[in-house]
Amino acid sequence: MEKTPFIEIRGLKKVYKLGKERVVALDDINLTIQRGEICCILGTSGSGKSTLLNMMAGLERPTKGKVLYSNKDVTRFDERRWALFRQKNIGFVFQSYNLMTGLSGVENVAMPLMFRGMDKDKRTRIAKEVLREVGLGNRMKHKPTQMSGGQQQRVGIARAFVTNPKIVFADEPTGNLDSKTTTEVMELMVNKSRENNQTFILVTHDNGIARYADRIVTIVDGKIVRDEKNESIARTREQIASDNAQEVRQQAAAEEETEVSAPIPADEAAANMSTEGAE
Ligand SMILES: Nc1ncnc2c1ncn2[C@@H]1O[C@H](COP(=O)(O)OP(=O)(O)OP(=O)(O)O)[C@@H](O)[C@H]1O
Ligand SMILES: [Mg+2]
Repeated sequence: MEKTPFIEIRGLKKVYKLGKERVVALDDINLTIQRGEICCILGTSGSGKSTLLNMMAGLERPTKGKVLYSNKDVTRFDERRWALFRQKNIGFVFQSYNLMTGLSGVENVAMPLMFRGMDKDKRTRIAKEVLREVGLGNRMKHKPTQMSGGQQQRVGIARAFVTNPKIVFADEPTGNLDSKTTTEVMELMVNKSRENNQTFILVTHDNGIARYADRIVTIVDGKIVRDEKNESIARTREQIASDNAQEVRQQAAAEEETEVSAPIPADEAAANMSTEGAE
């Protein structure tokens, strides 16, 4: 059975007008993304990546074309509906973290829960839990200026994931981080998305970062020029699956060898099970 597309972009175009000049930032983008997909939008500076993300999140309006979520056309949503939609469904991770400087780590992470009307005790408890998950259990009360870049981005990640949104958008999330922290932060986001079957859309100019995604969509001058499965990840997953299968086979063989009494025939085992089930 064919899966319902989760996010569908049809004929999306964005033209910026600056005086007499026209900049075609996006030119006829067609893209379908499934639920739980980890998708990277890869392209050089000025290729239109952030523009595409902004259209998908309703932060800017397209000149032409449509964005659909689960077959629902959101393109004509007004500001209020978009704000509600984002609040309910979307988390963001930014290159420059965009934390509230006057607030502590916990307060920053708890903020999206406050917008959802959750009471203070509950949202503080949940925010602390998520901060612990991202390895910041000992930085709860620190303000952003009292944290390193990597720590601030972990707060940013905790804030994006705290509401368990269906979609997380990340625009150059590791742009200001060193390579070790980049690896940690990327793994954190990808693992969290996989755990919760979240759709994770990552924007970057960096091939090294793109390899964390299941799928890499390359854009040049506002057009998709390539859309490919990330083979290295696919291979790793296949490898894990085949390793697991092999392990199960080996375990079964070892158990057979150590079996002293005759194995129970399948129908007898089934009869035992159904008796057990009835008790
Ligand atoms: N508000 C705007 N007004 C006019 N032109 C714009 C505007 N925003 C973006 N552009 C132009 O649209 C094109 C795509 O910009 P965009 O910010 O999407 O690129 P990007 O791929 O995100 O680049 P970077 O990697 O540098 O962030 C660029 O040529 C840019 O100059
Ligand atoms: Mg950009």
